[in-house]
Amino acid sequence: MADDLRKGLEGVLVAESELSSIDGDAGRLIYRGYAIEDLARGASYEEVLYLLWHGHLPDEGELAEFTEAMAAEREVDDDLLETVRTLADAGEKPMAALRTAVSMLSATEPEADADAADLEASLRKGRRITAKIPTVLAAFERFRLGEEPVEPDPDLGLAANFLYMLTGEEPDEVAAETFDQALILHADHGLNASTFTAMVIGSTMADLYGAVTGGIGALSGPLHGGANQDVMEVLMEIDESDLDPRDWVEQATDEGRRIPGFGHRVYNVKDPRAKILQERSRELAENGESKWYEITTTIEEYLTGEKGLVKKGIAPNVDFYSGSVYYQLGIPIDMYTPIFAMSRAGGWIAHVLEYQEDNRLIRPRARYTGPGDEAFVPLEER
Ligand code: ACO
Repeated sequence: MADDLRKGLEGVLVAESELSSIDGDAGRLIYRGYAIEDLARGASYEEVLYLLWHGHLPDEGELAEFTEAMAAEREVDDDLLETVRTLADAGEKPMAALRTAVSMLSATEPEADADAADLEASLRKGRRITAKIPTVLAAFERFRLGEEPVEPDPDLGLAANFLYMLTGEEPDEVAAETFDQALILHADHGLNASTFTAMVIGSTMADLYGAVTGGIGALSGPLHGGANQDVMEVLMEIDESDLDPRDWVEQATDEGRRIPGFGHRVYNVKDPRAKILQERSRELAENGESKWYEITTTIEEYLTGEKGLVKKGIAPNVDFYSGSVYYQLGIPIDMYTPIFAMSRAGGWIAHVLEYQEDNRLIRPRARYTGPGDEAFVPLEER
């Protein structure tokens, strides 16, 4: 029996999927056969969403129609905005606020009664959820700052529009492209913890609002999406300490602390997404503050070289460089994980819909290790 038990489901195959594949030894990631590097270089987040949801890259007409339909779904209703304002005023964490807001979004879903097996209706729901998440997050940030939300601009792509709603100013081309690329890189990643969570919920034929809300809960933890915020906090701790990053890391590892942004259940080498984000971080550093890029590369060189972490299969993951990229784009630190959710919602939806097409309720078992034969004692005798 003990041999059957796979803690953390490590290496357990539970489904077939055409969506994304990771080669953890080669450091390669593909979405439906396309290398992540090519998609990051040549596509937009909307194109990638279309690819994940519809099975092929869109032609110009398909993309225009899809982008327009997504942009038309960006607005959220006033009741929801008031709830977001209340959460912001109460000091709620952005991931928790997003989780609440996505759950509440289902109240205004025009096709709420559609069967989860109705793929076309589910795709429209998926579009609504994915289009509205940036609006919710930007509004939350505006409320926290004591400002009013900025209306979405349907002429901007999803990435540029988010930055616009966040600051009230249209981002420059570099910022918009960099952010769009970050969204592409986070859109899907096999059966990671949050995607699996969404799939488990979807396997009950619950609707997408439940699945995405669950995905947000799973993503919020520090072992998963929460690590990008932790990385930036570490970089700031190092900066404030005036310690050489190598000494800081040495001390931290001696204390048994894990270095956020390092290690991955599937990759044994550097995550290909980290390589792309490192390049973006370097470019942003050239025209702005260079210290974050310098600290991250120093840590990476030290841990992977001198400390030999890569030999143990612990290398930089996607979160290691995304923090400094977002920081240089002026995004508040506690919004990094919600941004991950903004992008990954596309992947959660793709996996849930793919799984539901040939659904089987996900229902594993636990090996019972409790007592076998206890005599019941009435309450008054305990
Ligand atoms: N720093 C130092 N040592 C590490 C790190 C790290 N970041 N990650 C793993 N290790 C060590 C562990 O201490 C352990 O060593 P031991 O065998 O001597 O005890 C060994 O590597 C294996 O670690 P596990 O926890 O068994 O590996 P697992 O596959 O379960 O963990 C995880 C993967 C959770 C991502 C882990 O690497 C971690 O905690 N990293 C830091 C948090 C992080 O960056 N998370 C983001 C992951 S990517 C994503 O979700 C988007």
